[in-house]
Amino acid sequence: MELRRFGGTELKLSPLGLGTWQFSNNVGIGARFWKDLSYEKMKEIVQFSLDQGINWLDTAEAYGNGTSEKNIGKILSELEPKPYLADKWWPFMRSAKSIGQTIDQRLELLQINQISLHQIHHPTSFSSIEKQMDQMCQLIQKNKIQYVGVSNFSANQMKKAEKYLRNAGAQLVSNQVRYNLIDRRIEDNGVLALAKELNVAIIAYSPLHQGLLTGKYHDNPQQLKQLFWLKKFQYGLTEKNLKKTQLLVDHLVELGQKHQKTPAQIALNWLINVQGETIFAIPGASSLGQVKQNVAATNFRLSQSEISSLSGFK
Ligand SMILES: NC(=O)c1ccc[n+]([C@@H]2O[C@H](COP(=O)([O-])OP(=O)(O)OC[C@H]3O[C@@H](n4cnc5c(N)ncnc54)[C@H](OP(=O)(O)O)[C@@H]3O)[C@@H](O)[C@H]2O)c1
Repeated sequence: MELRRFGGTELKLSPLGLGTWQFSNNVGIGARFWKDLSYEKMKEIVQFSLDQGINWLDTAEAYGNGTSEKNIGKILSELEPKPYLADKWWPFMRSAKSIGQTIDQRLELLQINQISLHQIHHPTSFSSIEKQMDQMCQLIQKNKIQYVGVSNFSANQMKKAEKYLRNAGAQLVSNQVRYNLIDRRIEDNGVLALAKELNVAIIAYSPLHQGLLTGKYHDNPQQLKQLFWLKKFQYGLTEKNLKKTQLLVDHLVELGQKHQKTPAQIALNWLINVQGETIFAIPGASSLGQVKQNVAATNFRLSQSEISSLSGFK
């Protein structure tokens, strides 16, 4: 798979990484977004991804309170090649010093000595952004993490983090935000423009809008009824939104027929090509079939006019 430089770092990453919130095994309220996956299923998802050239995985302390990290640690101890790992510290109701206090647990669960990218999961904590960045710098000095990223940060919050890190001799490498054909907020709220200006990578989470862009709910709206209420609420997984997005999904199907690809593959291809090399997407998967589809979203190229026609659905 063609690799691209990750922000201003020396790392060369695949434009798709593997999202692993799905590896939470029913632990905690967030895990209710997903069905429980067996260890064997998670392992085959990871194995297939690595075999096809995906060279990084994204996880977080918050995914099943360490369960996703633990599953990844065990799976990777049994597999080659070893990918880069991106992790996230959970800030809510905590102060910055817990970044340093919790890092050893992260490393132990992941069974590694250094996390390639450690991110602040979202901007709400008891401590300032500067204090959080200071803790991150200390972890770089101790070789426990290689690079620092943030997630769900606004342009102003990115500026604060970037300034602190630059003055400390480090750099802000990425901002992980929701970005896909349905949620285009970063194009207008300054985040994407600032990321490009600062050479900060955007990691696009929920690149398939949690399944909406695959067309599966449009094909069978009855499936919406089985979803966890918070997921329906946060992602607008409603019949009303199916109607609103029908023309977009019809266009994904049409382009898919032309390229012999699925709507999910067209949506992912748009995402990793629409903004030059700034965007890295991390689709999650709950089956081998899904990950097979998603990985194959990288082996073709939409034309510029096809990309523009999809961008027109704003
Ligand atoms: N930083 C943050 O605040 C934040 C927030 C959200 C997510 N994330 C990260 O981003 C990753 C991806 O985001 P996400 O999981 O929210 O959303 P997503 O990648 O848009 O959606 C993943 C889900 O879509 C369905 N799916 C995936 N591929 C499919 C295919 N080819 N055909 C049909 N259905 C398919 C599956 O749903 P079913 O399981 O229902 O089949 C899968 O679990 C997460 O795993 C996590 O690592 C970060």
